[in-house]
Amino acid sequence: MKIVSTIEEVRAQVRAWKTEGNTIGFVPTMGYLHEGHLSLIDAAGENDHVVVSIFVNPMQFGPNEDLASYPRDLERDAALCKKHNVDLIFHPTPEEMYGESFYSYVDMDVLTKELCGLSRPVHFRGVCTVVAKLFNIVLPDKAYFGQKDAQQLAIIKRMVKDLNMPLTVTGCPIVREKDGLAKSSRNTYLSPEERKAALVLSRSVFLGKAMAEQGETNAEKIKEAMTAEIKSEPLARIDYVKIVDLKTMQQVKTIQGGVLAAIAVYIGKTRLIDNFMTDENEGK
Ligand code: PAF
Repeated sequence: MKIVSTIEEVRAQVRAWKTEGNTIGFVPTMGYLHEGHLSLIDAAGENDHVVVSIFVNPMQFGPNEDLASYPRDLERDAALCKKHNVDLIFHPTPEEMYGESFYSYVDMDVLTKELCGLSRPVHFRGVCTVVAKLFNIVLPDKAYFGQKDAQQLAIIKRMVKDLNMPLTVTGCPIVREKDGLAKSSRNTYLSPEERKAALVLSRSVFLGKAMAEQGETNAEKIKEAMTAEIKSEPLARIDYVKIVDLKTMQQVKTIQGGVLAAIAVYIGKTRLIDNFMTDENEGK
């Protein structure tokens, strides 16, 4: 496994693989890898070679967000990547990615204006821009994203479609702790008391999912039950609880077809997200 930090080194390796006719699977990450990331890396193993990028992208953080405190541990990440048969880690500096000045952005309408886009107005512009850049650098045949960030996944799929990017985007299922909490690098911010309180997210998601599975089609009723569950936890503060069309991120009144029930909740200062989809195949 190679670890490189320059775009030129990635390009040289990718050129060599492509000349041999090999396929490339790509997993973009911000590092501090957990089992969720590892499930994406394992899925990417269906390609001849696997590339993982580890880059805490400043452009997708708002001014008062956790860019400085975001957990980083390259040595630990490299050991995990090696164990999961990654061929190349791309670990650039912000200067390598954005140079001294940077003027070009990938922006998206509609899908980015809802859910996380409301409380994180610059987030998805930063995500789309860095992912487009990474796709241009790595030239993957397939890229893998987690369904936990369901809005991000829908946005990346839309960007690839709208901009005719020559790759396939695959969504992989949420990986959870044994007690239900969705795996996230941000779980490390939680105190023991907050860690317990954070279980309210998965409880709310499992409740909504059970209602939908039992045939409840009224989105408002499901939303109300999920909201009440979250409000029962004193340490939780709701950012949003929404039920939206999986492709457009617009709110729906009735559960039918591919629907996403998504929540964002602050536990203390830590903002966590979770969701369920009525048809997980639609989110793949
Ligand atoms: O999901 C993430 O970790 C990031 O948003 C991504 C896709 C690596 C872009 O920085």
